Order: sequence, then structure tokens, then C-alpha cells
Amino acid sequence: IGENLQVWSEVGSTNDLLKDAASLTSGDVVLAECQTAGRGRRGQTWVSPFGAHLYFSLFWQLDSRHAALQGLSLVTGVAVAKAINDWLGDAVRLKWPNDLYHNGRKLGGILVEMVGQANGPVNIIIGVGLNVAMPPESASRIDQPWVDLQQIYGQQVDRTELANKVISALHEALALFADKGLAAFVDDWNRLDCFWGQAVVLKNEKSQQVGICRGIEGDGALLLEAGGQVTRIYGGELSMRSH
Ligand code: BTN
Repeated sequence: IGENLQVWSEVGSTNDLLKDAASLTSGDVVLAECQTAGRGRRGQTWVSPFGAHLYFSLFWQLDSRHAALQGLSLVTGVAVAKAINDWLGDAVRLKWPNDLYHNGRKLGGILVEMVGQANGPVNIIIGVGLNVAMPPESASRIDQPWVDLQQIYGQQVDRTELANKVISALHEALALFADKGLAAFVDDWNRLDCFWGQAVVLKNEKSQQVGICRGIEGDGALLLEAGGQVTRIYGGELSMRSH
């Protein structure tokens, strides 16, 4: 595994920096103190003020495309959540597919992108953003309920130590994923699922579906139970069902 860690003061987006980089080794990481064009999923902006949070991207090469992007992003969520929970206390949960949550508020997100040739090895960029201590002037720019580590744990959190723990956990998890696949992470993912056993709504462009959340399966599908039937879901946005 590549041990190469680059720290930048300011970048557009750490994901884009890795996309444009030449000769990377699996495990290489770029970290930045701030991003001027931080990106979230579905074209959203990721608010990335200087010196406040954690923003990094990790490069990983897979043998083939079918080794699955979805799996990688679920594995990343498990690794990051466990690293924090083991260190600071069991408070971080996952919202499918890979948001980091605490009591209905978003703590962090993961943006997995593929740089890709059609055949042969596939280059993957795994971007992780974690709120550590939100500056008041940034808070107003975020359009969803958010939380940071400082609020959750009621203490200051050292970002260098956090980066260390999260990145090493990710290295270990990805090595295990390369060896055993997503199956090795399903139990952990389901234990961390913030919606497990709850009534949820799954929305995508065309439709919406309600059901009880039953966690994930070995291929990364989310299981939704309704009327005694289980449906496998591969995309869309999940939210709590309001009664
Ligand atoms: C999400 O929408 O939940 C995903 C957010 C991902 C943010 C991280 S911060 C580091 C990396 N660089 C980016 O531009 N985005 C990801």
C-alpha cells in the first residue's frame, strides 16, 4: 500500500487533484486545509473552510470494473465511522449509501469517483470530508442539518490525529476489501445503519418507495421490506418516513 501523503494548504478539490495526478500507487492520499471548489454528491458544493475540518482523497486501483464502486463506498463509510467510534466513543452512524450521521444530522460525506479506461485496471478516487469544528460563518452556507465532531463529543478534536486514525483504518479496510470483498463488511455496516428496522422513504428521479430498512447485502444493495416482500435497491436517496 502506498504510504504517500501530500498536504496542501489550498486546493480546488482534493478529488480533482488526484484525478490529474500521474503515477499514483494504491493508498496514496492528498489532504488539504481548505478547498475552493469542494464537491459533494449529486453536483452539490462541499463547504470547505480553512483549518476547520478534514478533507482528503485516497487513490485506489481495482483489477476490474465489476469489483464495484458501490462496495468501495460502503467499505469507506464503515472504516471511517469505526475509526472515529473506536477512538472517541460510539456515536457515529451511517446513512445509506455512505453518509456519516449522528442523530439525524450529517457529520461527513464520501465521494467516490472512477477515472476510467473501459478495460483493465480501474482507478478510483475516494474523497472524504468530515466536519470537525464548524466556523459560524460557514454554517449558514449549509442547506441540510449538520453536526461536527466537537459538538458530538463535547471536546476539541485534533485533526492530525483524526487524519492518522481515519487514513490508517481506510488502508486496512481497503486491503481487506481487495481480499474478501464487501461480504466482510456487511455485518459492521448493518450495525452502524442509522435507519435499521425503521420506516423509510427511498426516492429517485422517477418514483418513491416506502418500507422498513433491513440493511445491506453482500452486493451493496439496500434491502427494503414492504408488505412481506424485500426489494433490493441500488440507487436513490433515503430519508426517514414522516408519520
Ligand atoms: C457528499 O456529498 O456527502 C460527499 C462529500 C465529499 C466531500 C469530500 S472533501 C474531500 C473530497 N474532495 C471533494 O471535493 N469532495 C470530497
